[in-house]
Amino acid sequence: MTRAADVSATAAQTLNQHVRGPLAPPAETAKPPNSRPTRGRFAAMSIKSLQDLIVNELRDMYHAENQLVKALPKMVEAASTPALKEAFERHLKQTEDQVNRIETIFDQLGGDPKGKRCKGMEGIISEGAEVLDEEAPGSVIDAALIAAAQRVEHYEIAAYGCIRSHANLLGLGDVARLVEESLEEEEAADQLLSELAETEVNTMALEGAERNERQG
Ligand SMILES: [Fe+2]
Repeated sequence: MTRAADVSATAAQTLNQHVRGPLAPPAETAKPPNSRPTRGRFAAMSIKSLQDLIVNELRDMYHAENQLVKALPKMVEAASTPALKEAFERHLKQTEDQVNRIETIFDQLGGDPKGKRCKGMEGIISEGAEVLDEEAPGSVIDAALIAAAQRVEHYEIAAYGCIRSHANLLGLGDVARLVEESLEEEEAADQLLSELAETEVNTMALEGAERNERQG
């Protein structure tokens, strides 16, 4: 075994032991007055090391991606520009792959990917869904869907970028590589959305809005 592989194996072992630890139900200990509430399967995990942090980040993204698996079919349905529908459909498949990658990481390292609630993604998705109740032209809805989807992508790019960096620091090369694949997909999706907005959707939205104003 090479030295790098040896270091990686040691780090994985350390993380493996570590990941198994917090999976046990949290012991009933006296809580400080301002401690965060724990609710059901989303019991808060204490973070005392970079190993704790990466587990927490991966669980957060697991919940984030699973929320997107539910949200993307609604976005496909709401979009009217064919290329945008297609982009959302493709990203739904990628998102399912991203969920599987996080499961693979936990399979390798031990532990359960569930247990963390991603409130950031909940907020982005619920804000993005507000436009679906509006009676706007389809092109304006499409422009809003792109704006919401790009917020999602930027959130994920930031999260996966940090996880990759933390994985590299911990010598978890396999984790870093799997995360890198998801990161590249998110970056490509973001770029495609920018292209669709700039070449097609935003101009149509502008025309749609003007037509409505004249009619009103
Ligand atoms: Fe994703």
